[in-house]
Amino acid sequence: MKTVLVSKQGNAKTDILFVGVFKDEKKPGAIKKTEPLFARILEAAAKKGRFSGKSQEVFASFQTSYRRASEVIAIGLGDKKDLKAVTLRKIAGKIIEIASVRKASKIRVMADTFLGGALEARDVAAIFTELAGLAAYRFFRYKTKKKDELPKFPETMELVFDDQKALKELKPVVSRAEMIAKSVAYARDLNNEPGNVMNSSRLIEESRSLAKEKGLKCTVLGLPELKKLGMNGLLAVNQGSVTPPALIILEHGEEHKAKGTVCLVGKGVTFDTGGISIKPSKGMEEMKFDKSGAIAVIATLGLLADLKLPLHVVGLAPCVENNVANDPQRPGDIIRMYNGKTVEVVNTDAEGRLILADALSYCEKFKPVAIIDAATLTGLCHYTFGDKACAILGTDQKLIDVIREAGEKTGERCWQLPLWDDYADAIKGNHSDINNTGDGYAGTITATMFLKEFVPAKVPWIHLDIAGTAYTAKNRYDCPKGATGFGVRLFAELLSNWNRENYLSV
Ligand code: BES
Ligand code: MN
Ligand code: ZN
Repeated sequence: MKTVLVSKQGNAKTDILFVGVFKDEKKPGAIKKTEPLFARILEAAAKKGRFSGKSQEVFASFQTSYRRASEVIAIGLGDKKDLKAVTLRKIAGKIIEIASVRKASKIRVMADTFLGGALEARDVAAIFTELAGLAAYRFFRYKTKKKDELPKFPETMELVFDDQKALKELKPVVSRAEMIAKSVAYARDLNNEPGNVMNSSRLIEESRSLAKEKGLKCTVLGLPELKKLGMNGLLAVNQGSVTPPALIILEHGEEHKAKGTVCLVGKGVTFDTGGISIKPSKGMEEMKFDKSGAIAVIATLGLLADLKLPLHVVGLAPCVENNVANDPQRPGDIIRMYNGKTVEVVNTDAEGRLILADALSYCEKFKPVAIIDAATLTGLCHYTFGDKACAILGTDQKLIDVIREAGEKTGERCWQLPLWDDYADAIKGNHSDINNTGDGYAGTITATMFLKEFVPAKVPWIHLDIAGTAYTAKNRYDCPKGATGFGVRLFAELLSNWNRENYLSV
């Protein structure tokens, strides 16, 4: 779907014209001018209690004034002062859905009528453009009869802004939103691929070709290098797999090193059977999404290159498969990690933290000013937040607050859990320094406490548990059932405005 910015409706035809109407908006002025007949019908409908402008309410009519649009649809926006990005995202998604159900090939949105709350024209332009990309995403490469399976989406979406001057400034906003949506789709594509296809070797291939296309630096630590470095967290988890493990490292903007390096780390378990501590079979197919963190990091690096971001960012993706063949690790095994600490693998299903631990320690090499990791780490996080928010924990409150704000803006919400030292007792080892599981309670927190043991000293660090947000079990307004690409938008928003002085406490 192509987004086109226009300043006047003109006489060009469109299939559906969308207008936003706030709750109890007495004079939807914009429609009165452009579609007087529809405005009258809407007023009559409002009097009869058929339309009040509450959020996502829909009123449609084929009675148009100038025959520019075959149909006009009013969509409720709720209270004007309360309109937020997260709500407008849903409304934009609903508009795309309506257009798709009606098989419209052209739609026109009176963008100014959607301005409310603290939202500016650039927010409205960005949200509509982004949602057009996100909502129309489908993964159909394994469908033999493609034509019948694919819903129809409009070819063009015109966004009408009255202010011609502003239009110029909105152009880069639209192209940025298009780049973001493309990167999210790329992340979804890689992540929706099953474990028999998207294994560590394929992720290496994908990263290399992305790096080539976007001009990123790509380094891959394979089996011999990992052995040499003593990255036994990665090696131990991968013992049950016939595919070799890898630590993929993508780098963007090295020339901006002086401004401080940010490391992004993502869990890349290409399939998580649980290992010898095997998972129940019900729902196990979802564990192909256990590579979500790694893919979010890889896709983000590609996007940062597209955005030409003046910042040195290093993405690290430890990739393994947690399987049960070969010579898998046993519960009770004790391994020595890359940073020298010893871990008893009480449960082989707590594998994510083992591979992240070594990758986090390895970040030291880049002397980062901050480290942020994303991982589908605990089932408990999924239970706690559903697919509505990821858990955020870490050692720098300022950075946590900034990331949470970026989450509200992008719709990738984060909610904080505490990281009190009190939780450390739960992972104390008996014969080892640390156990890889806690006592069964506060699992999302104790998993994070485990990671904390491996973060380079004094480096501000944030952990995002994306177990609930990385994929959706149902079709959603912004994403069909499957991988969501969670993290890409959040990281892009955070890093685009990166400000070392204001973002970090130290
Ligand atoms: N990949 C899972 C976590 C997960 C579960 C992600 C459900 C998405 C949806 C992780 O490796 C895992 O198995 N965690 C265990 C930890 C436990 C053994 C301490 C869990 O949450 O059960
Ligand atoms: Mn697991
Ligand atoms: Zn896992």
